[in-house]
Amino acid sequence: MSVENTKTLAIIGQGYVGLPLAMAAVDAGWTVIGIDNFQAKVSQINSGSSPVEDVTDQQLQAALSSGAYKATNDFSEAALAAVITICVPTPLDDKREPDLTLLRSAATGIAPFVSNETLVVSESTSYPGTLRDLIIPIIYENKPVTSQSVYFASAPERVNPGDPIWNQKNTPRLVGAIDADSQSRALAFYKSICDAVVSVSTPEIAEAAKLLENTFRLVNIALINEFTQLCSAADINVQEVIDAASSKPYGFMPFRPGVGVGGHCIPVDPLYLTWWARQHNGEAAIVEAANLINHEMPSYVAERALRLVNPEIKNPQVLILGVAYKPGVGDVRETPVSELRDHLKTLGAVVSWHDPLVPLWEDSKPVDLGWECDVAILATKQPGMDVEQLIKRGIQILDCTNSIKKQSGVVPL
Ligand SMILES: NC(=O)c1ccc[n+]([C@@H]2O[C@H](COP(=O)([O-])OP(=O)(O)OC[C@H]3O[C@@H](n4cnc5c(N)ncnc54)[C@H](O)[C@@H]3O)[C@@H](O)[C@H]2O)c1
Repeated sequence: MSVENTKTLAIIGQGYVGLPLAMAAVDAGWTVIGIDNFQAKVSQINSGSSPVEDVTDQQLQAALSSGAYKATNDFSEAALAAVITICVPTPLDDKREPDLTLLRSAATGIAPFVSNETLVVSESTSYPGTLRDLIIPIIYENKPVTSQSVYFASAPERVNPGDPIWNQKNTPRLVGAIDADSQSRALAFYKSICDAVVSVSTPEIAEAAKLLENTFRLVNIALINEFTQLCSAADINVQEVIDAASSKPYGFMPFRPGVGVGGHCIPVDPLYLTWWARQHNGEAAIVEAANLINHEMPSYVAERALRLVNPEIKNPQVLILGVAYKPGVGDVRETPVSELRDHLKTLGAVVSWHDPLVPLWEDSKPVDLGWECDVAILATKQPGMDVEQLIKRGIQILDCTNSIKKQSGVVPL
C-alpha cells in the first residue's frame, strides 16, 4: 500500500494549534503522529496531561489509549504519513520582524522523511510567499530522491483558543495549493476534518487572507482604544457609545477597548504584514499606527488606575486581576499586562497580580484576592475569579473588560 492510502497524518508542533488539530483528525478517523521537538511537552502529552485548554485530559487519554494518536520527537516517523501539516510558532525577533527559524527547522526536520505522494501543508501564519519561497525549496533540497511527487498547500489555522463555539471542525478552512493536484488533495484532507473548506487559487491568497483577518482586528481594536481615550477625556461612557453604534444593523461591528492586544496572533501577525510591505517598498501606515496606539494603552490604563488612588499615598498597592492575554486561557504570550505592570512600577506602585489560570508569570507567583490594595485593575476577566469579594470590601476597580455593570466603586475604562 502506498503512503497516500494510509490515512496517517503527521503534525509538526503540538501546541495550541497542532494538538487540537490532532484530536479533530483522530475524531475524523485519522491515525495521528504528533511530532514536537520539545521533549518535556512530548512526555507530558504521552502521559495523558494536555498542555492546552482546548483539549481535555480525557479527550487526550482516549486518543492515546485507542492507539490512534501519540506524540514523539522523532521526525523519521513522518515517513509513514500521507499528509504532514506544519503547526510551529512564527514569532517576531528582537527587531519585531518575522522570525521563521522554527518554520525553517520544522521543514528541514521533515524533509528527509517526506515520502512519495505526500501532501505537505503549512498551517503556520506567515507572509505571502512563505510556502513557495521558503518551505518548498527546503523540502526539495533535502527530500529523498525517490519522493518524486510531493504536494504542497497553505491552510492557515484560524483557531481561537478558549472559544466555546468555534473550533477546528466548524471553522471554515482556507486552502490554497501550488497546483491542481495539490489543491484536490488538500481539499480532500480538510474536508475529512472540517465542516466547510474554502478553496482559494494560490497559497499566497490563503497566507494574505490570514494576515488580513488578524490585521483587521488589530486596527479595529486600536480604533476603539483611541476612541476610548477621547470619550473618557470628555466624560462620555465609551461602552454605551459602542452599544448605541451597534444598533445599526449593517456596516458596523463592535470592538471593545482593553489593556492592549496579546497572544501569539493579533500583536504579531500584523507585523508580518508591515515587514512584508517594506520588502515591496510599500508601507502599511494604518497598521503601524494601530500597533503604536495599542502599545500606548498599558500606560494609559496605569495612569487611569492611579488617578483613583488617594494622591497622598506615595507607593500605592495595585492588584492586577487577570494576566493572561484573554479570558479562559492561561496563555501569557505577548500579554499587554506586562507593559501595564512595568508602567505601574515606573509610576511608583507596588504591584501584585491574581489569575486563577496562571500559576507562574515571569518568575512571580499570584497573590490571593485578600491582598491589601489601594486599587485593582481588572485586565482579564477569568472564569472563576471572584471580583465580588473586592467590591464588597470597597476596593476601587478600574474595569478594562466591561464585565462589571453599574457597581459602586467600579469604574469602566
Ligand atoms: N495560538 C493561536 O491562537 C493561533 C491561532 C491561529 C494560528 N496560529 C498560528 O499557528 C502557529 C502555531 O502556533 P501555536 O499557538 O500552536 O504555537 P505553540 O507554541 O502553542 O505550539 C507550537 C509547538 O511547536 C513546537 N515546535 C517549535 N519548533 C518546532 C520544530 N522545529 N519542530 C517540531 N516542533 C516544534 C513547540 O515545542 C510547541 O509545542 C503559529 O504560526 C501561529 O501564528 C496560532
